Amino acid sequence: MTNKAYYITTPIYYVNDVPHIGNAYTTIMADIVSRYHRLKGDDTYFLTGTDENAIKVAAAAADKGVAVAEYVDQLAEDFKKVWASLDIEYDDFIRTTEQRHVTVVREIFKRLLEQGDIFEGNYEGWYCVPCETFLADSELVDRKCPSCGRDVEWVEETNYYFKLSAYGDRLLAHIDANPDFLQPEFRKNEVVNFIKQGLRDVSITRDNKGWGIPVPEDESKVIYVWFDALINYISATGYLSDDERFKSIWPADLQLMGKDIFVRFHCTFWPAMLMALDLPLPRALFGHGFWTIDGEKISKSKGNAISPAALAEELSNESGATRGVCLDAVRYFLAREVPLGQDGDFSIKSFRNRFNSDLANDLGNLLNRTLSMLGKYFDGLLPDPKDFGGGLGDVISQTAISAQESCDKFEFTRALEAVWQMIGIGNKYVNDTQPWNLAKENKLDELAGALYSALEVARAAAIMISPFMPATAREIARQLGIADTFASLRWSDIATSRPFAVGTAIQGPDPIFPRLGSKRKEGTKMADRPPAPKEEKSQDQINYEYFSKLDIRIAEIMTAERIEGADKLLKLTVNLGDEQRQIVAGIAQNYDPDTLSGRKIVLLTNLEPAKIRGVVSNGMLLAATDENGGAVLLQPDADVSPGSNVK
Ligand code: MSP
Repeated sequence: MTNKAYYITTPIYYVNDVPHIGNAYTTIMADIVSRYHRLKGDDTYFLTGTDENAIKVAAAAADKGVAVAEYVDQLAEDFKKVWASLDIEYDDFIRTTEQRHVTVVREIFKRLLEQGDIFEGNYEGWYCVPCETFLADSELVDRKCPSCGRDVEWVEETNYYFKLSAYGDRLLAHIDANPDFLQPEFRKNEVVNFIKQGLRDVSITRDNKGWGIPVPEDESKVIYVWFDALINYISATGYLSDDERFKSIWPADLQLMGKDIFVRFHCTFWPAMLMALDLPLPRALFGHGFWTIDGEKISKSKGNAISPAALAEELSNESGATRGVCLDAVRYFLAREVPLGQDGDFSIKSFRNRFNSDLANDLGNLLNRTLSMLGKYFDGLLPDPKDFGGGLGDVISQTAISAQESCDKFEFTRALEAVWQMIGIGNKYVNDTQPWNLAKENKLDELAGALYSALEVARAAAIMISPFMPATAREIARQLGIADTFASLRWSDIATSRPFAVGTAIQGPDPIFPRLGSKRKEGTKMADRPPAPKEEKSQDQINYEYFSKLDIRIAEIMTAERIEGADKLLKLTVNLGDEQRQIVAGIAQNYDPDTLSGRKIVLLTNLEPAKIRGVVSNGMLLAATDENGGAVLLQPDADVSPGSNVK
């Protein structure tokens, strides 16, 4: 017996246009699931592809004045390129014009005709071309398609039907007996209601207008595109061609799709077809929600169809972060912002906020400051944490357990929340242990332990985010000096204690996520913008290494008094956590010394000491200058403890 693979599918896409963020969403989420299962060590099979035999595909080719066969070849290639540019790692890509598919569809048609599940008849009714759906009069809303709201066409054809009506009770029984079959739970009720209303037999052919899979022994007809398309999930995996392979893959563990094609096609028609073929049903069908852009339906005519690849490109040009990392930010946003199953709105503002807060601040900080201290205090070589016991091992293993539970239920927002909670604990741990003070006090063993422990959190985060943000995870691993082994790490390795070899040469820090400014450059469209030319480095730009030499920290003013004979200067004593200092600051114009005690300020701590008006100053307070040339204090936006790093 071969072990069965974890089999996940996306819908196959109509090739009437290249994918936008809405349909890319289905594939990105499937990619996350499939990478997660690979990370768990499961043999995984991820299928996607293109749905090419539709009437609307032929119409799109005609619009462009191209032969349909040529057109679909081109678009199938375009889809593959888009998926590659979104770092999608599928195992197979099926096209419904491929012989391996066509043969199986025709065989199935013959078999179901012979056994009476398909019968000949006449169809009189409506058809919606954009949705490729047969509709009864009673289903129309204001004479339009209930799903897309567009015009429908009247059809009168001799045809073939599939006996869907025979399967209602069996479908309901299966849904009842298999609680995880239809997800999320709230969509299950829609399906049950749809079936309980009574299922009608469905027409499964159209007149042959020169495009589609011809009905066996009746070439005047082609097979209805949904009957043809749904079969891709089994034709790609060896049904009727390689039994052993088929058994090692089918049934699918997860079939993912948007809510528009969930109830009627994937939860009713498809399982009934499988029942007719005596095949096991998929273990889970999941209907995700729809994205809008800034509150509006995604539509080609509105011109708001964001391409995720173009968005990543634009962000990379603006921020200087790599394209892979920017793409990861899009993937992260899609997985984090909205629970799978719910509708979501994509706004550039919230995307940029998440980029800055979750990625640049939380994740970036943890990594950058820990690596920079390792560089500073241990020459970038991971020290031996000796018998250090105050680490975060329990937090890491608890997070691995809860993130896994959430991922297993496709609750990605929750999984990522758990990982970010752990990152927050890691950052707080650095604030609390104050490694810079341990260094000053020459407590090297404790310092080694604290930094090692912070890096353990960064490593655990890298493994857990790798299904969501593969390029970022690899880059973190590189900076942690574990690039060579990273790809072979599994989910079960997250909680390994003491995972780094002493003496590992860490790299960087090379900040992965630069903070974005509050406004993105205007005047460019989101999609299809040509890459901006790279700007030359100006003479007065500094690199990060240079900047990282500045030790800027939060300090709390303890006392403040005037300096005799100097109307602009105040003498301050400040608290920097474990240390107190005296500084001289030119803020007397704007601040009364009696009001300053307890205020938090931003202090450059490693400026060489200077004597000003005879008073020693050990550091420089940072302030903005107002229009009168007076100093305006900077202060942290939230309560941070004295000694906290400013970057
Ligand atoms: N060809 C059929 C599927 C056949 S599967 C046997 C089809 N193709 S599609 O190209 O129109 O859509 C593919 C996927 O994109 C569907 O899962 C659909 O729900 C999803 N989305 C299209 N627009 C979307 C949003 N605005 N938001 C989220 N998903 C969206 O249907």
